[in-house]
Amino acid sequence: MAAKKGPKSEVAAHDVGGASLAGKSALVTGAGRGIGRAIARRLLELGARVSLVDVDEAAVRDAVAEYGGDTIAIRADVTEEGAVAGAVSTSVDTFGGLDIAVNNAAISTATAAPIARLSLSYWRRVLDTNLTGPMLVSKYAAPHLARRNGAIVNLASTRALQSEPNSEAYATSKGGLVALTHALAISLGPAVRVNCISPGWIDTSEWEIRGQRKMPDLSPQDHQQHPAGRVGRAEDVADLCAWLVSDAATFITGQNLIVDGGMTRKMIYQE
Ligand SMILES: NC(=O)c1ccc[n+]([C@@H]2O[C@H](COP(=O)([O-])OP(=O)(O)OC[C@H]3O[C@@H](n4cnc5c(N)ncnc54)[C@H](O)[C@@H]3O)[C@@H](O)[C@H]2O)c1
Repeated sequence: MAAKKGPKSEVAAHDVGGASLAGKSALVTGAGRGIGRAIARRLLELGARVSLVDVDEAAVRDAVAEYGGDTIAIRADVTEEGAVAGAVSTSVDTFGGLDIAVNNAAISTATAAPIARLSLSYWRRVLDTNLTGPMLVSKYAAPHLARRNGAIVNLASTRALQSEPNSEAYATSKGGLVALTHALAISLGPAVRVNCISPGWIDTSEWEIRGQRKMPDLSPQDHQQHPAGRVGRAEDVADLCAWLVSDAATFITGQNLIVDGGMTRKMIYQE
Protein backbone atom coordinates (compact mmCIF):
# COMPACT_ATOMS: atom_id res chain seq x y z
CA MET A 1 0.00 0.00 0.00
CA ALA A 2 1.28 3.46 -0.86
CA ALA A 3 -0.03 6.74 0.46
CA LYS A 4 1.10 10.09 -0.87
CA LYS A 5 0.10 13.60 0.08
CA GLY A 6 -0.74 15.68 -2.97
CA PRO A 7 0.26 19.27 -3.75
CA LYS A 8 -2.03 22.22 -2.96
CA SER A 9 -5.30 22.33 -4.87
CA GLU A 10 -6.15 24.69 -7.70
CA VAL A 11 -9.57 23.06 -8.17
CA ALA A 12 -12.39 25.60 -8.40
CA ALA A 13 -15.54 25.38 -6.28
CA HIS A 14 -18.59 23.89 -8.04
CA ASP A 15 -22.14 24.25 -6.76
CA VAL A 16 -24.16 21.02 -6.33
CA GLY A 17 -27.58 22.11 -5.09
CA GLY A 18 -25.88 24.28 -2.49
CA ALA A 19 -24.17 21.25 -0.89
CA SER A 20 -20.93 21.81 0.99
CA LEU A 21 -18.55 19.11 2.15
CA ALA A 22 -16.18 21.47 3.93
CA GLY A 23 -14.44 19.74 6.83
CA LYS A 24 -15.48 16.24 5.72
CA SER A 25 -13.17 13.35 4.86
CA ALA A 26 -13.99 10.86 2.11
CA LEU A 27 -12.72 7.55 0.77
CA VAL A 28 -13.56 6.63 -2.84
CA THR A 29 -12.74 3.22 -4.31
CA GLY A 30 -11.96 2.79 -7.98
CA ALA A 31 -10.97 6.46 -8.04
CA GLY A 32 -8.20 6.11 -10.60
CA ARG A 33 -10.45 6.49 -13.61
CA GLY A 34 -14.03 6.77 -14.79
CA ILE A 35 -16.94 7.59 -12.52
CA GLY A 36 -14.87 7.12 -9.35
CA ARG A 37 -12.34 9.69 -10.50
CA ALA A 38 -15.16 12.15 -11.27
CA ILE A 39 -16.71 11.53 -7.84
CA ALA A 40 -13.38 12.08 -6.07
CA ARG A 41 -12.89 15.34 -7.91
CA ARG A 42 -16.40 16.61 -7.17
CA LEU A 43 -16.08 15.80 -3.45
CA LEU A 44 -12.75 17.66 -3.44
CA GLU A 45 -14.30 20.64 -5.23
CA LEU A 46 -16.97 20.83 -2.54
CA GLY A 47 -14.37 21.02 0.22
CA ALA A 48 -13.79 17.39 1.26
CA ARG A 49 -10.42 15.78 1.86
CA VAL A 50 -10.32 12.66 -0.29
CA SER A 51 -8.53 9.30 -0.19
CA LEU A 52 -8.42 7.90 -3.70
CA VAL A 53 -8.23 4.10 -3.56
CA ASP A 54 -7.60 1.84 -6.55
CA VAL A 55 -5.86 -1.43 -7.38
CA ASP A 56 -4.24 0.52 -10.24
CA GLU A 57 -1.64 2.52 -8.35
CA ALA A 58 -0.48 4.51 -11.40
CA ALA A 59 -4.05 5.67 -11.98
CA VAL A 60 -4.66 7.00 -8.45
CA ARG A 61 -1.24 8.61 -8.33
CA ASP A 62 -2.08 10.35 -11.61
CA ALA A 63 -5.38 11.61 -10.18
CA VAL A 64 -3.74 12.93 -7.00
CA ALA A 65 -1.05 14.63 -9.07
CA GLU A 66 -3.74 16.25 -11.25
CA TYR A 67 -6.17 17.36 -8.53
CA GLY A 68 -3.82 17.98 -5.64
CA GLY A 69 -5.44 19.57 -2.60
CA ASP A 70 -6.09 17.38 0.38
CA THR A 71 -5.91 14.09 -1.49
CA ILE A 72 -3.96 10.89 -0.96
CA ALA A 73 -3.46 7.93 -3.28
CA ILE A 74 -3.87 4.48 -1.74
CA ARG A 75 -3.17 1.28 -3.66
CA ALA A 76 -5.57 -1.40 -2.45
CA ASP A 77 -7.52 -4.32 -3.89
CA VAL A 78 -11.06 -4.19 -2.46
CA THR A 79 -11.31 -7.99 -2.54
CA GLU A 80 -8.53 -8.32 0.05
CA GLU A 81 -9.71 -7.78 3.62
CA GLY A 82 -6.30 -6.75 4.97
CA ALA A 83 -5.82 -4.23 2.17
CA VAL A 84 -9.26 -2.73 2.79
CA ALA A 85 -8.63 -2.47 6.55
CA GLY A 86 -5.30 -0.79 5.78
CA ALA A 87 -6.84 1.65 3.30
CA VAL A 88 -9.50 2.75 5.79
CA SER A 89 -6.98 3.16 8.58
CA THR A 90 -4.55 5.12 6.37
CA SER A 91 -7.40 7.42 5.38
CA VAL A 92 -8.56 7.91 8.99
CA ASP A 93 -4.99 8.50 10.24
CA THR A 94 -4.26 11.01 7.47
CA PHE A 95 -7.43 13.08 7.73
CA GLY A 96 -8.37 12.49 11.39
CA GLY A 97 -11.62 10.57 10.74
CA LEU A 98 -14.01 9.49 8.02
CA ASP A 99 -17.38 10.99 6.97
CA ILE A 100 -17.95 9.51 3.51
CA ALA A 101 -17.26 6.13 1.87
CA VAL A 102 -18.03 5.59 -1.81
CA ASN A 103 -17.99 1.99 -3.06
CA ASN A 104 -17.38 2.52 -6.75
CA ALA A 105 -14.63 0.01 -7.69
CA ALA A 106 -15.90 -2.80 -9.88
CA ILE A 107 -15.22 -5.07 -12.76
CA SER A 108 -17.35 -2.88 -14.97
CA THR A 109 -17.64 -5.09 -18.06
CA ALA A 110 -21.26 -6.22 -17.95
CA THR A 111 -21.31 -9.11 -20.40
CA ALA A 112 -19.31 -12.34 -20.37
CA ALA A 113 -19.61 -15.91 -21.63
CA PRO A 114 -23.03 -17.57 -22.00
CA ILE A 115 -24.09 -19.36 -18.79
CA ALA A 116 -23.15 -22.79 -20.21
CA ARG A 117 -19.55 -21.61 -20.55
CA LEU A 118 -19.35 -19.15 -17.64
CA SER A 119 -16.35 -20.07 -15.53
CA LEU A 120 -16.71 -20.29 -11.77
CA SER A 121 -13.50 -18.30 -11.36
CA TYR A 122 -14.92 -15.38 -13.40
CA TRP A 123 -18.23 -15.48 -11.49
CA ARG A 124 -16.33 -15.40 -8.17
CA ARG A 125 -14.03 -12.58 -9.32
CA VAL A 126 -16.98 -10.36 -10.28
CA LEU A 127 -18.90 -11.11 -7.07
CA ASP A 128 -15.74 -10.64 -4.96
CA THR A 129 -14.97 -7.26 -6.52
CA ASN A 130 -18.43 -5.79 -7.04
CA LEU A 131 -20.23 -7.09 -3.93
CA THR A 132 -17.77 -8.42 -1.34
CA GLY A 133 -15.52 -5.36 -1.85
CA PRO A 134 -18.28 -2.89 -0.83
CA MET A 135 -19.15 -5.14 2.15
CA LEU A 136 -15.52 -5.07 3.32
CA VAL A 137 -15.16 -1.31 2.91
CA SER A 138 -18.44 -0.81 4.78
CA LYS A 139 -17.30 -3.16 7.57
CA TYR A 140 -14.10 -1.22 8.25
CA ALA A 141 -15.50 2.25 7.54
CA ALA A 142 -18.73 1.91 9.57
CA PRO A 143 -17.28 2.49 13.08
CA HIS A 144 -15.54 5.67 11.88
CA LEU A 145 -18.57 6.89 9.91
CA ALA A 146 -20.84 6.30 12.92
CA ARG A 147 -18.76 8.70 15.03
CA ARG A 148 -19.41 11.51 12.53
CA ASN A 149 -22.93 10.83 11.22
CA GLY A 150 -21.40 9.74 7.97
CA ALA A 151 -22.71 8.32 4.71
CA ILE A 152 -22.00 5.44 2.34
CA VAL A 153 -22.82 5.50 -1.37
CA ASN A 154 -22.63 2.29 -3.40
CA LEU A 155 -22.38 2.34 -7.19
CA ALA A 156 -24.84 -0.27 -8.49
CA SER A 157 -26.28 -0.24 -12.03
CA THR A 158 -29.56 -0.27 -13.93
CA ARG A 159 -28.45 -3.82 -14.71
CA ALA A 160 -29.68 -4.65 -11.21
CA LEU A 161 -33.13 -4.08 -12.72
CA GLN A 162 -32.92 -5.14 -16.38
CA SER A 163 -30.65 -7.33 -18.51
CA GLU A 164 -29.19 -8.18 -21.86
CA PRO A 165 -28.00 -11.75 -22.55
CA ASN A 166 -24.86 -13.10 -20.85
CA SER A 167 -24.63 -10.59 -18.02
CA GLU A 168 -25.40 -12.98 -15.12
CA ALA A 169 -22.35 -12.26 -12.94
CA TYR A 170 -22.45 -8.48 -13.29
CA ALA A 171 -26.25 -8.20 -12.94
CA THR A 172 -26.19 -10.43 -9.86
CA SER A 173 -23.40 -8.43 -8.27
CA LYS A 174 -25.33 -5.19 -8.75
CA GLY A 175 -28.64 -6.65 -7.59
CA GLY A 176 -26.83 -7.84 -4.48
CA LEU A 177 -25.39 -4.39 -3.97
CA VAL A 178 -28.85 -2.81 -4.01
CA ALA A 179 -29.87 -5.29 -1.30
CA LEU A 180 -26.66 -4.71 0.68
CA THR A 181 -27.49 -1.01 0.58
CA HIS A 182 -30.87 -1.31 2.28
CA ALA A 183 -29.59 -3.93 4.72
CA LEU A 184 -26.75 -1.62 5.81
CA ALA A 185 -29.09 1.39 5.98
CA ILE A 186 -31.20 -0.45 8.54
CA SER A 187 -28.24 -1.87 10.49
CA LEU A 188 -26.17 1.33 10.60
CA GLY A 189 -28.93 3.94 10.93
CA PRO A 190 -29.51 6.49 12.26
CA ALA A 191 -25.79 7.17 12.71
CA VAL A 192 -24.87 6.30 9.12
CA ARG A 193 -26.95 6.77 5.97
CA VAL A 194 -26.46 4.27 3.15
CA ASN A 195 -27.71 4.77 -0.41
CA CYS A 196 -26.88 3.50 -3.84
CA ILE A 197 -26.81 5.03 -7.28
CA SER A 198 -27.69 2.98 -10.34
CA PRO A 199 -26.24 4.59 -13.43
CA GLY A 200 -27.36 3.73 -16.94
CA TRP A 201 -25.08 4.39 -19.92
CA ILE A 202 -22.33 6.73 -18.72
CA ASP A 203 -19.55 7.72 -21.12
CA THR A 204 -16.25 7.97 -19.22
CA SER A 205 -13.82 8.53 -22.14
CA GLU A 206 -12.73 11.87 -20.69
CA TRP A 207 -12.09 10.50 -17.19
CA GLU A 208 -9.10 8.36 -17.99
CA ILE A 209 -5.50 8.77 -16.80
CA ARG A 210 -3.93 11.86 -18.37
CA GLY A 211 -2.56 11.00 -21.78
CA GLN A 212 -5.15 8.23 -22.31
CA ARG A 213 -8.23 10.45 -22.64
CA LYS A 214 -10.46 10.38 -25.69
CA MET A 215 -13.37 12.44 -26.88
CA PRO A 216 -16.65 10.51 -26.59
CA ASP A 217 -17.40 8.52 -29.78
CA LEU A 218 -21.20 8.60 -29.70
CA SER A 219 -23.76 8.66 -32.52
CA PRO A 220 -26.92 10.82 -32.70
CA GLN A 221 -28.91 7.60 -32.15
CA ASP A 222 -26.95 6.88 -28.96
CA HIS A 223 -28.14 10.21 -27.58
CA GLN A 224 -31.66 10.32 -29.06
CA GLN A 225 -32.77 6.94 -27.66
CA HIS A 226 -32.52 8.43 -24.16
CA PRO A 227 -35.68 10.23 -22.93
CA ALA A 228 -33.30 12.89 -21.55
CA GLY A 229 -31.82 13.35 -25.04
CA ARG A 230 -28.25 12.33 -24.33
CA VAL A 231 -25.90 9.64 -23.04
CA GLY A 232 -24.84 10.18 -19.42
CA ARG A 233 -21.62 11.77 -18.22
CA ALA A 234 -19.53 10.86 -15.18
CA GLU A 235 -20.38 14.31 -13.81
CA ASP A 236 -24.10 13.38 -13.70
CA VAL A 237 -23.29 10.59 -11.23
CA ALA A 238 -20.68 12.59 -9.32
CA ASP A 239 -23.11 15.45 -8.69
CA LEU A 240 -25.77 13.13 -7.26
CA CYS A 241 -23.19 11.31 -5.14
CA ALA A 242 -21.87 14.59 -3.70
CA TRP A 243 -25.39 15.76 -2.89
CA LEU A 244 -26.34 12.40 -1.32
CA VAL A 245 -23.43 12.46 1.12
CA SER A 246 -24.03 16.09 2.05
CA ASP A 247 -26.14 17.49 4.86
CA ALA A 248 -28.77 18.40 2.23
CA ALA A 249 -29.81 14.72 2.06
CA THR A 250 -30.10 13.69 5.72
CA PHE A 251 -33.65 12.26 5.28
CA ILE A 252 -32.60 9.90 2.46
CA THR A 253 -31.33 6.43 3.32
CA GLY A 254 -31.63 2.87 2.00
CA GLN A 255 -32.52 4.11 -1.49
CA ASN A 256 -31.46 3.16 -4.99
CA LEU A 257 -31.37 6.31 -7.12
CA ILE A 258 -31.42 5.73 -10.87
CA VAL A 259 -29.37 8.02 -13.13
CA ASP A 260 -30.08 6.76 -16.63
CA GLY A 261 -31.64 9.59 -18.63
CA GLY A 262 -34.99 7.82 -18.31
CA MET A 263 -34.04 4.60 -20.13
CA THR A 264 -35.52 2.25 -17.51
CA ARG A 265 -38.85 4.14 -17.81
CA LYS A 266 -39.09 3.68 -21.58
CA MET A 267 -41.23 0.98 -23.23
CA ILE A 268 -39.17 -0.81 -25.88
CA TYR A 269 -41.59 -3.43 -27.24
CA GLN A 270 -41.10 -3.69 -30.99
CA GLU A 271 -44.16 -3.34 -33.31
N1 LIG B 1 -19.86 3.56 -16.95
C1 LIG B 1 -21.10 3.09 -16.97
O1 LIG B 1 -21.82 3.18 -17.98
C2 LIG B 1 -21.67 2.43 -15.72
C3 LIG B 1 -23.04 2.08 -15.75
C4 LIG B 1 -23.59 1.49 -14.62
C5 LIG B 1 -22.83 1.27 -13.49
N2 LIG B 1 -21.50 1.62 -13.49
C6 LIG B 1 -20.75 1.35 -12.26
O2 LIG B 1 -20.09 2.54 -11.87
C7 LIG B 1 -18.84 2.23 -11.30
C8 LIG B 1 -17.71 2.90 -12.08
O3 LIG B 1 -17.81 2.51 -13.45
P1 LIG B 1 -16.71 2.99 -14.52
O4 LIG B 1 -17.33 2.83 -15.85
O5 LIG B 1 -16.15 4.30 -14.12
O6 LIG B 1 -15.60 1.82 -14.33
P2 LIG B 1 -14.06 1.76 -14.81
O7 LIG B 1 -13.84 0.34 -15.24
O8 LIG B 1 -13.75 2.85 -15.77
O9 LIG B 1 -13.24 2.05 -13.47
C9 LIG B 1 -13.26 1.12 -12.41
C10 LIG B 1 -12.09 1.41 -11.49
O10 LIG B 1 -12.13 0.44 -10.43
C11 LIG B 1 -10.83 -0.08 -10.23
N3 LIG B 1 -10.90 -1.43 -9.69
C12 LIG B 1 -11.32 -2.57 -10.33
N4 LIG B 1 -11.18 -3.63 -9.52
C13 LIG B 1 -10.68 -3.17 -8.33
C14 LIG B 1 -10.32 -3.78 -7.12
N5 LIG B 1 -10.44 -5.11 -6.94
N6 LIG B 1 -9.85 -3.00 -6.12
C15 LIG B 1 -9.73 -1.66 -6.28
N7 LIG B 1 -10.02 -1.02 -7.42
C16 LIG B 1 -10.50 -1.77 -8.44
C17 LIG B 1 -10.19 -0.08 -11.63
O11 LIG B 1 -8.76 -0.12 -11.55
C18 LIG B 1 -10.73 1.23 -12.21
O12 LIG B 1 -9.87 2.32 -11.93
C19 LIG B 1 -18.74 0.70 -11.29
O13 LIG B 1 -19.23 0.21 -10.06
C20 LIG B 1 -19.66 0.32 -12.42
O14 LIG B 1 -20.13 -1.01 -12.28
C21 LIG B 1 -20.92 2.19 -14.58
